[in-house]
Amino acid sequence: MKHFLKLSDWSSKDLWHLIQLAIHLKMEWKAGGNKPIFKDKILAMVFQKPSLRTRVSFEVAMKHLGGDAIMLSPDEIGLGKRESIADVARVLSGYTQGIMARVFDHEHVEQLAQWASVPVINGLSDSHHPCQAMGDLLTIYEQFGRLQGLKIAFVGDGNNVAASLLEAAAHFGMHFTVASPDGYMLPEEAYEEARPFAEDSGATFEMFNDPRAAVKGADVLYTDTWVSMGQESETKTREAAFAGYQINDTLLKHASKNAIVMHCLPAHRGQEITDAVADGEHSALFPQAENRLHIQKAILVHVMS
Ligand code: CP
Ligand code: NVA
Repeated sequence: MKHFLKLSDWSSKDLWHLIQLAIHLKMEWKAGGNKPIFKDKILAMVFQKPSLRTRVSFEVAMKHLGGDAIMLSPDEIGLGKRESIADVARVLSGYTQGIMARVFDHEHVEQLAQWASVPVINGLSDSHHPCQAMGDLLTIYEQFGRLQGLKIAFVGDGNNVAASLLEAAAHFGMHFTVASPDGYMLPEEAYEEARPFAEDSGATFEMFNDPRAAVKGADVLYTDTWVSMGQESETKTREAAFAGYQINDTLLKHASKNAIVMHCLPAHRGQEITDAVADGEHSALFPQAENRLHIQKAILVHVMS
């Protein structure tokens, strides 16, 4: 059984195959439509948190491939509350051919995978967002025609998105720098998971407090919200801690002149990114969001076929 829970579970070769498959499925879709290879196949989408991109891109991906998806919102299932995760996994396995889940605790997608007899895809946990990072690799590859040797600088919270990007960079020989305030750095375990792949690919990692040091000469500037879902009670403290960690025109000047700016979205304009940058000539935000659809198809085809 192939589950898609975090990028360090996968080989670099298989992840490269996913990118190539996404490019193929994107071209096929734009040339008139995908083949209905998922006829009679249903994806269950279990959400403990809100979503726009993940929910819509997975549902549309299933429909484009001839199948369908069922959205199960937090109130409907009460994962681990109304019913145990083990029971939810086994019941959904009897009705559907795959489960995509967005959870708080990463262990909850691992438990779903342990008990399900269908593939489980992590649609974001507190520590990983692998589908996002794969879509982002697709976008970077489209923009630069390569991944190896590019410098990607993440500015902000060492969160789930940053951890999956670190793993993505490690798989493909990229130079990953991150600038975070003390107390919000990527956890050491994220580096531990990424390091073996970096040793094979030649990827390097550097940590800074100063965003200018991290983005110096970078090809890709990346940011995410200062307050992730579930951290709302920390909003005031976080806004104060991240005040100097905004991607704006001044910071952009320190990057390569052909740099692209990325954000997984939703964006908090005026906080981690300015309108001028989000809507400016370096922005890749909306091609990046669209690519969630194309990479989702590749992930679904790979694990559910
Ligand atoms: N980037 C992302 O996962 O967006 P949603 O939270 O809207 O799914
Ligand atoms: N780090 C953010 C990503 C949202 C897609 C969160 O977890 O809320």
